[in-house]
Amino acid sequence: MRIIVAITGASGIAYGVRLLEELRRAEAEVHLVVSEAAKKIMAYETDYELAEVRKLSRETYREDDIAAALASGSFQYDGAVIVPCSLKTLAALARGYADNLITRMGLCALKEGRRLVVVPRETPLDLASLRNLVAVRENGAVVLPAMPGFYHHPRGINELVEYVVGKILDQLGIPHQLFERWSGK
Ligand SMILES: Cc1cc2nc3c(=O)[nH]c(=O)nc-3n(C[C@H](O)[C@H](O)[C@H](O)COP(=O)(O)O)c2cc1C
Repeated sequence: MRIIVAITGASGIAYGVRLLEELRRAEAEVHLVVSEAAKKIMAYETDYELAEVRKLSRETYREDDIAAALASGSFQYDGAVIVPCSLKTLAALARGYADNLITRMGLCALKEGRRLVVVPRETPLDLASLRNLVAVRENGAVVLPAMPGFYHHPRGINELVEYVVGKILDQLGIPHQLFERWSGK
């Protein structure tokens, strides 16, 4: 299974990194783009080293590498995830503004009808961003906000992160045991 992961400059970089770890466990072939803003936030809010994060993928690309394979609609893959997805990247996707490899890849996914999961992280949401969420949904993306549930009684931050990552894996059709599914009480 070939998956594209893009990490953009929103808080919640851990969601992206934890997803990469799970994709490695699932032996997926991962193609990774980390935006310049995401690199800064990774350093600010996590203990992850970019070089270590990159090792979780098969291929990594710079956000300005607009000639990369991922920039073409002919690139074949099973799903793409932008996690976390900044409101700026969301706006570009909603308006067809392919200003870097991440937005170009996302817009190619939409035009080719490929599975694209966007994981926005911001609160509260301004009206433009709410409309942008509707626009990308109407255009075929799955909007999966970083909103962990609490009914599985998380015992810390890791389990909150894993809840969201599990929901992403569900969208990709990848089995996991990151949270206990509700089975009725
Ligand atoms: C510490 C920090 C936290 C941020 N958190 C968010 C966030 O949670 N959501 C968001 O949409 N933007 C956030 N931003 C702003 C984005 O990083 C900024 O809009 C950037 O241009 C996004 O670029 P990118 O989408 O190319 O990664 C944050 C910026 C900083 C410095």
